[in-house]
Amino acid sequence: MSLAPARTIFLPVQTAPRRDPGLLVTFEGGEGSGKSTQIERLADFLLDEGHEVVTAREPGTTQVGEAVRELLLRTAREDLSPESELALFLAARAELVAEVVRPGLEAGKVVLLDRYGDSSVAYQGYGRGLDPDRVKALNAYFTRGLTPDLTVLIDVPVEASAERSRQRPADRIERAGRSFHDRVRSGYREMALNEPERFVVLDGTDPIDTVQAAIRDAVLEALAERIPTSRTET
Ligand code: TYD
Repeated sequence: MSLAPARTIFLPVQTAPRRDPGLLVTFEGGEGSGKSTQIERLADFLLDEGHEVVTAREPGTTQVGEAVRELLLRTAREDLSPESELALFLAARAELVAEVVRPGLEAGKVVLLDRYGDSSVAYQGYGRGLDPDRVKALNAYFTRGLTPDLTVLIDVPVEASAERSRQRPADRIERAGRSFHDRVRSGYREMALNEPERFVVLDGTDPIDTVQAAIRDAVLEALAERIPTSRTET
């Protein structure tokens, strides 16, 4: 009996261009990079400009997402397998996309996400040692190919983020150790270099206002590009 040669058929995903009128902006970075403060300020600014805005965090926001968050960050054992960790983050992501992100985009809103698929590539891929390309393929499968229009990477040296994180008790992933967080940081930087049209990389050690101004510029540019195109498409 001869066996067929092994082939990798890896979760093909339909990646038709989006036709909704919304804008999806994701925020990424290491621990304590100041993402949440920047997202809050950006949301206020966009609301003042007359946009409808939805914000959410990963893992979290949905019922399943918040349960996964509690499990992964607090209850799970320190040595949970990387595959299980990834599976749980993916489940939380699929729920968020279905319940919050797609409906928001379809209603023409600006959706701001505190972490998305790139977090899994950086943390479970580069950090925990799973194959980054497989993690990307799984992200595509679990989100049905939903990619951000713009990703803001707030880059901070691992020492600076460790310092900021000391201001609150560390969770299971924050405790993962220096070399883990070094791999996460360099993984993010590599991803940004590979997709320069999607990523904007900002220096998180700059003053909050400086970082916010750069984020606003990038988002306004993305809005100017996105809205007229999607209106003519629909
Ligand atoms: P959180 O308290 O939200 O951290 P931060 O303020 O730094 O965003 O905790 C989220 C943690 O989960 C953070 O350590 C990154 C990690 N994470 C992953 O490892 N993989 C993922 O796919 C996501 C979304 C988060």
